Amino acid sequence: MKGQDPFLLFAGSSHESLALELAKALNTTLGKIRIETFPDGETGVEVLQSVRGRRVFVLQSVARNPNHFLMELLIIIDALKRASAKSIELVIPYFGYARQDRKGMERNPITAKLVADLLQKAGAARVLTMDLHTEQIEGFFDIPIDNLYARPVLIKGAKNLQSPVVVSPDVGRNKMARHFAEELKCEIAIVDKRRVGPEKIEMDALIGNVKGKDVLLVDDIISTGKTLEIAAKVCILNGAKSIRALVSHALLSEKARFDGIEEVIVTNSVPTSNKQVKQVSIAPLLGEAIKRGLKGESISSMYRSMKI
Ligand code: R5P
Repeated sequence: MKGQDPFLLFAGSSHESLALELAKALNTTLGKIRIETFPDGETGVEVLQSVRGRRVFVLQSVARNPNHFLMELLIIIDALKRASAKSIELVIPYFGYARQDRKGMERNPITAKLVADLLQKAGAARVLTMDLHTEQIEGFFDIPIDNLYARPVLIKGAKNLQSPVVVSPDVGRNKMARHFAEELKCEIAIVDKRRVGPEKIEMDALIGNVKGKDVLLVDDIISTGKTLEIAAKVCILNGAKSIRALVSHALLSEKARFDGIEEVIVTNSVPTSNKQVKQVSIAPLLGEAIKRGLKGESISSMYRSMKI
């Protein structure tokens, strides 16, 4: 149809400010939808405009109240599918349940796979997400999934350091740390972390050298803040000059503390009102990825050319 946008952007209720920023980055407005909670706690959704034959994007972060926002997303997808949208593409800045990506112990579920199955069964045609906890989650989907990196947005907080060293607070973040270090042209170090309970961590050894250096701790998630707090202590004990942290997803619980860390920079993939952290916006990153997807252009090559 003449004059129509090539797509529509809808949002669940998990992150209104990011949805509005993304709409602005895409030079559009949010699609009209009513989301309500019935007296018994069930979620009701009504799409208030025609989506027939349209390519539709839906933004929802599965965090803060993940069960509620996941269910809400599934219901929105169902509503759009039954309203004859041509395709439904999900923009999930934070993919909740990603940490349950394997059977850690006997008789554990693999909830990340369950979430992938639910989204596909509901009718998702494609997923755009960012800094998945582990990349193998991409394989839980039989539909295309693009996993963006927050690195170009976060790394701005690391410029102008005299003697940087990127520190992974956990062996699982080695690859992430290496990519930051390659860009900053510096060394990496690794802290040996062992989680002995959801809120209890043991950590002491440091592999590498941080003496007299400006440490950049990089991680995908802050939740209790324990991982960063203990990693910072280990770095201080090993003679670090200064410590900063760059983190993709701020799940931040109330108890999170950052003793010894000068600055914690996080993205706005998850809403947070925590005043201890500085938030940088991923709306331009998501917007650029969506624009490229619409034009059938490479998404991975955007990191080389974009100035976010
Ligand atoms: C763990 O594997 C993740 O990468 C994060 O290090 C972890 O989720 C952070 O959690 P917390 O802030 O509770 O230590």
